[in-house]
Amino acid sequence: MKATARANTNIALIKYWGKRDEKLFLPMNSSLSITLDRFYSTTTVEFMEELKEDKLIFNNNPGSNEDRNKVSNFLTKIRNIAGTNLYASVITENNVPTAAGFASSASGFAALAAAATKALGLKLKDEELSVIARQGSGSACRSIYGGYVEWDMGTRADGRDSVAKQILDEKQWKLTILSAIVDSGIKKVSSRDGMKRTVENSPYYKGWLDTVSDDLREAKIAIKERDFQRLGEVMESNALKMHATMLGARPPILYWESGTVEIMNYITELRRTGIPAYFTIDAGANVKVLCLPEHEEGIKKALMELKGVLQVIACYPGQGISYL
Ligand code: DP6
Repeated sequence: MKATARANTNIALIKYWGKRDEKLFLPMNSSLSITLDRFYSTTTVEFMEELKEDKLIFNNNPGSNEDRNKVSNFLTKIRNIAGTNLYASVITENNVPTAAGFASSASGFAALAAAATKALGLKLKDEELSVIARQGSGSACRSIYGGYVEWDMGTRADGRDSVAKQILDEKQWKLTILSAIVDSGIKKVSSRDGMKRTVENSPYYKGWLDTVSDDLREAKIAIKERDFQRLGEVMESNALKMHATMLGARPPILYWESGTVEIMNYITELRRTGIPAYFTIDAGANVKVLCLPEHEEGIKKALMELKGVLQVIACYPGQGISYL
């Protein structure tokens, strides 16, 4: 009753921002991401008769109460599916800079879903695993797959059709995603709370919902046609729109640091010199820059020279779930 799984994190090109059902993690809009090769979670789950509660070890430390509760609630959903009441020991290693705007919850819950269901002997299709992972953290449903992945918001109240699927294999289009770390501290507002507040009271949220499906459609066409400029433009605009909705919330949410803005200005300036590169930002200060592999070295070097930038890591489209 033991299994180990690894899941990569993902970066959304078209963002998931807002839930229509918080318990089931049903989103207000569909989204699209690239699974990254460099950041991943490796999780071992063992269900045991002798345990009186779930145990968590997170990066060699006992997890916080909050993390333990999240993991335990999630495991209970899986226990209900499998028809067992056994508790589990969960050991997880995160090769992701946690809580700095990298979706570590995505790789974390994808790996946990895969390891726990395998440990219990459940034979699931990828779509079924995606539906389960979604109920730990929305973006986790996309990390089941490699490459370019779409999460269809679905329409059902029970969430069975709110599921991700791969739209292009990681080997079919090699782009570089430069992850620029400008702030390694703990982020101020979790994406969970940030999106909740935005949906509740930002007057701009309606504008987001009015346009996000067009952005998604355009991104899918750009991916199909391998049109880098078109993909970059719609990605960047979508990220800025998401941040604009948060700025309209009360109290407002601003994730950017000065280093974030430095990178945004640098990339915009770079394009004026004819080099195509585009940025996106999640619920944190870090920036991911999408560029073509032939421009990667030069852009990486220039980003490293910016005052507010601590580190730049080059990532590529990576694979989906693997079992170790
Ligand atoms: C800005 O998936 O972390 O990264 O579902 O509440 O766990 P919960 O939120 P989470 O939110 C991700 C928000 C985002 C955009 C995205 O990844 O699509």
